[in-house]
Amino acid sequence: MNITNIAVLVSGRGSNMQAIIDNIKNGTIPNASIAVVLSDVGGTYALERAQNQGIDTFFVNPVQYEDKASYESEILRILEKYNIDLILLAGYMRVVGPTLLNPYRNKMLNIHPALLPSFPGLHGQKQAFDHGVRVTGCTVHFVDDGVDTGPIIIQKCVQVLEDDTEESLASRILEQEHKIFPEAVRLFVQGQLRIEGRKVRILE
Ligand code: GRF
Repeated sequence: MNITNIAVLVSGRGSNMQAIIDNIKNGTIPNASIAVVLSDVGGTYALERAQNQGIDTFFVNPVQYEDKASYESEILRILEKYNIDLILLAGYMRVVGPTLLNPYRNKMLNIHPALLPSFPGLHGQKQAFDHGVRVTGCTVHFVDDGVDTGPIIIQKCVQVLEDDTEESLASRILEQEHKIFPEAVRLFVQGQLRIEGRKVRILE
């Protein structure tokens, strides 16, 4: 069985990345390895967590590049060095441009803290809370050219409770993120995801 080499792109705390690491370690995601973690922000907890696991990390600072294409070319150069098969956006706070997306189309997953297509973009939990929805949740999807618009792989609902605050709601959503992101990665690694137009078929 071939090993799927994974790169994780992060910008912050890295709890979703940690969930993937844990699920690879305990065998729930078989035949996969996180080969490299890249951050667009220096000194993040996500980088520290990855280093604690002995994973190679890179801080690629966008301000050092003249435009998005050259910044993403540098990321691409690193990914190629590690023979990356799958990219995970785990709290990566940038919109991926064509330079990075085109070579990894259908091989890039994102986790979003709302039930897409509702509340795309930044602060999905807050958008849902402020809107007054009764149910929200999280979504794992393939990345396409839009912002949080790609084919949906897994979604999980979270009820909004009467006494919820934005923070309490976000933390219950995060618990579900930590379940569905590893599950989507497992399905990808095992070759069980087939994209058919807007829909993702999950094969037995
Ligand atoms: C998560 O809420 C994720 O859905 C969103 O950014 C947050 C990242 O959290 N895209 P973490 O860095 O994985 O802890």
